[in-house]
Amino acid sequence: ASQTRDAWGSRIGLILAMAGNAVGLGNFLRFPVQAAENGGGSFMVPYFIALLLLGIPLMWVEWGIGRHGGRYGKGHVPGMLAALWRHPAAKYLGVMGMAIPIIVLIYYTYIESWSLAYAVFSISGTFQDRSPDEMASFLADYQSGGALAIGFFVVTLAINVWVISKGIEHGIERLAKIGMPVLFLFAVVLAGVVLFALTAQPGAGGATAADGLEFIYSPDFSLLGSPSVWLAAAGQIFFTLSVGMGTLSAYASYLKKDDDLLLSGLATSATNETAEVVLGGTIAIPAAVAFFGVTGAVAIAGEGAFNLGFVTMPIVFQSLPLGAFLGFMWFGLLFFAGITSSVAMATPLIAFFREEFGARREPVAWALGGLVLAAGLLHVALLDRGFLDEWDYWAGTFGLALFALVEVVLFMWVFKPENAWRELHEGADIRLPRVFKLVLTYVTPAYLGLLFLWWAVADAVPILAMEQTPNGTPYAPEDVPVVLLSRGVMVLLLVVGAVLVRVAWKRNG
Ligand code: PHE
Ligand code: NA
Repeated sequence: ASQTRDAWGSRIGLILAMAGNAVGLGNFLRFPVQAAENGGGSFMVPYFIALLLLGIPLMWVEWGIGRHGGRYGKGHVPGMLAALWRHPAAKYLGVMGMAIPIIVLIYYTYIESWSLAYAVFSISGTFQDRSPDEMASFLADYQSGGALAIGFFVVTLAINVWVISKGIEHGIERLAKIGMPVLFLFAVVLAGVVLFALTAQPGAGGATAADGLEFIYSPDFSLLGSPSVWLAAAGQIFFTLSVGMGTLSAYASYLKKDDDLLLSGLATSATNETAEVVLGGTIAIPAAVAFFGVTGAVAIAGEGAFNLGFVTMPIVFQSLPLGAFLGFMWFGLLFFAGITSSVAMATPLIAFFREEFGARREPVAWALGGLVLAAGLLHVALLDRGFLDEWDYWAGTFGLALFALVEVVLFMWVFKPENAWRELHEGADIRLPRVFKLVLTYVTPAYLGLLFLWWAVADAVPILAMEQTPNGTPYAPEDVPVVLLSRGVMVLLLVVGAVLVRVAWKRNG
């Protein structure tokens, strides 16, 4: 029942869309916090190892699975995995590639809506002359879920639905062609402002932005014995490159049979890493260090990504000339980074309903918007009770690693190394050195499997048993029902996904 399949309009459009998928809130909010919390320079060593041995190989695997699935008319993960492995279980494994992006989409768009709101607040001068305490209580008020927070959430969802309704080339690709250049322009300007304006002027304890740069960029091997740093680094690589979710595969399914994968996947990774390490690394942490010193900045990061991004950064920009405009650029940059990623998370599900149930794009997009709003309201209401932290842990951290393991095992082992290698090189503009075949076949799965076991023992089991929250603190007894509800909704989404897959396969044979 497949109409002519969608396709990307141009190669540059494809790369921008893929880079838009990867470059997100993870680069500008999650990365600086992870780096600061894990010792700065000591985080970067396992980070680059994970990039080379996990991130880039998995990027290629996702592209390979996706383009291969697209040949069978499949833009959703259950269908792609079934095309790779002719076993009834394959499609059910693929449910993860539909449920995980939807779960992340729900809280991700909520955070995205804060950046839209804060961009508007910044430019309208709301933050003028506010003290750090006032900024913190402003955020707490906003997050307590008034009409304003819900209003911006609805607007953000409507924009997402509108883009998705326009399809791959006219919606997602066009958004990326506008959003990515704006994002990079804003990021480069802000990085320049941090470097030049804040290097001259020492803040707390005489620290400058240069001390912040030194903190994250000078390699430090002292914490390498600590497993948690390795896990955090790998977790950041998965999240930031968007691997282990099936969204890159969904985008790659709209490639043509002999379009290049290898060079394009590499370009996508390189763009994301530039945005993350160079731009993301130069903006938030050095700015915070220049203001509050290294210890102050680490303490801020310890209070989470939202504190750094939504309290500290507006304070820093407010102190500079044209502060309202700089604040607007910061939140505008976050908004564009966010929306080019959130539309990617919706893509596998839209493809599923179109391909398996002959649905039209608009109604599916609006229904998805409604689902995200309904489930998102739970986050609005229960944010400070650990609801979001559970989702970010189980779907956004553990889920990505688990699904990445499934992907690499299916592609390299079940589909067989020879086929995988041939598939990756079909139409490719570059040839990979043979050693990468060994990396893909042995090193990546083994490394991932090992990390995964470690993960399970170090935090998944204790969190599951409610011995500690994802932040390492004890669960407050009164929050236990909230946590159970939070997990219950995730399980429900997985079950609904599995039922839909079953119905689809019964229907279409
Ligand atoms: N990579 C995105 C970021 O850095 C998040 C994302 C994860 C997007 C998975 C799509 C799929 O914010
Ligand atoms: Na990213």
